[in-house]
Amino acid sequence: MNNIIITIDGYSACGKSTLAKQLAKKLGYVYVDSGAMYRAVTLHFLRNHIDCTNTAEVISTLNNITIEFKFNDHAQQSEIYLNDENVEYLIRNLVIAEKVSEVASIKEVRSFAVAQQQKIGEKKGIVMDGRDIGTTVFPNAELKIFMIADITVRSERRFVELFNKNPNITIEEVESNLEMRDYTDSNREISPLRKAVDAIEIDNTFLSIDQQLDIATQLTTEKLQ
Ligand code: DC
Repeated sequence: MNNIIITIDGYSACGKSTLAKQLAKKLGYVYVDSGAMYRAVTLHFLRNHIDCTNTAEVISTLNNITIEFKFNDHAQQSEIYLNDENVEYLIRNLVIAEKVSEVASIKEVRSFAVAQQQKIGEKKGIVMDGRDIGTTVFPNAELKIFMIADITVRSERRFVELFNKNPNITIEEVESNLEMRDYTDSNREISPLRKAVDAIEIDNTFLSIDQQLDIATQLTTEKLQ
């Protein structure tokens, strides 16, 4: 059976990575979290006080960044490394979330990330989630999924995740961050968040994790036949 490329795009906190991870595991495919790359670049920019409006500074900084995914056998998941440092957990907080859309809208940052994403996809057999995967990174992907969910449900889900790490966080902060990112990600000049014309929409507002996986598995089976 031929390996295919599956793209999962959509708004923030729609459960894209949950679905992508499970689907990849079921198919024996590689899961790639493209958002983690933008988050890792953001962490590096914040740590080094990089001025996002200074193109020369952005380019020279990107030239000195290495981003890799390595599989953690213990955690049974792929984790992101920034210059050989495991930053998988450091990038999942509201400080990064407040800045990442701005960093991800920089042309040079997008070229840097997209080139690596396309390289990872050369052998196919991957599930990649993000915002522009079905439109820009893999416009010829065999299966494209676009996920949506009600903003209240999304905020509650993300709040639970973040509250475990930071009990001072409020649901209002989480919701306003999601709205801000959706707006910035959808309105940026380069590769804005869009549903590809050939993407299949899944609204998971009222779906369980198992139900969304069943739908995606069925769609994959149809594509593979
Ligand atoms: O999937 P995520 O929430 O971890 O992504 C973080 C941010 O990265 C998101 O708000 C926009 C940006 N991003 C992007 O611009 N393009 C992608 N393919 C993936 C993420």
